[in-house]
Amino acid sequence: MRKFIVGNWKMNGTSRDLKEIEAIASAAQDYVSVDSALCVPATLIDRAVRQIGSFSIGGQDCHMLTEGAFTGCVSAEMLGDAGAVLTIVGHSERRTAQHECDIDICAKAEAAHAAGLHAIVCVGETLNERESGKALDVVLKQLGASLPDTAAGNWLCVAYEPVWAIGTGRVAGPDDVEEMHGAIRSALAQRFGEEGNAIRILYGGSMNGENAAQLLALDNVDGGLIGGASLSAAKFEPILAAAEALSK
Ligand code: PGA
Repeated sequence: MRKFIVGNWKMNGTSRDLKEIEAIASAAQDYVSVDSALCVPATLIDRAVRQIGSFSIGGQDCHMLTEGAFTGCVSAEMLGDAGAVLTIVGHSERRTAQHECDIDICAKAEAAHAAGLHAIVCVGETLNERESGKALDVVLKQLGASLPDTAAGNWLCVAYEPVWAIGTGRVAGPDDVEEMHGAIRSALAQRFGEEGNAIRILYGGSMNGENAAQLLALDNVDGGLIGGASLSAAKFEPILAAAEALSK
């Protein structure tokens, strides 16, 4: 399976940063065995797409409905209209700060699919849940309820992002990552059959140029969702290089 390396710029970036997006897109061209994308703020999608052409630009969330009286929200169709080809849904920062639940996330993933976008559905446990031995249960429950029945097919990826590893510099241990990705793979295969084996499972949480090679080499780690280390080409490129080296 080709590795998929996705940057998540979160609420970072204005027109001043279009040059950096261009630098990332240009660096990505050298890694022909790796799929890559950058999920930028909605305000930058259109300009990023116009400026860089063929590189995949995504959003970071979408509304579950196509239109209506939802002040401040952006629909999947609007993301697509701006030139996005994918979107993240269910990031833990949205699950927590915007109180999004699995049912919302499932509906958002379906909305993304209906609008012709690829979707990255995020799941992950809190530190408290991990320390009390509930990580597997929590994540598999989120996974079951956040994925629509139409999830089979190559329009969807899952991102396992332990909440305590996001933006903290703490990375989940290789055994824990492998155990979780293996459990997610089994659940996908059980629910979607052979097509469940083709759904890419990304790891997210403080992935960077130093740890990417080790994380991406683990069983069932089919790529990465990268926050902080995606903000500059200098930090993002070593992750692409690590993925490329593993694809040889
Ligand atoms: P991080 O963020 O790489 O800064 O930990 C990852 C994410 O939130 O997707």
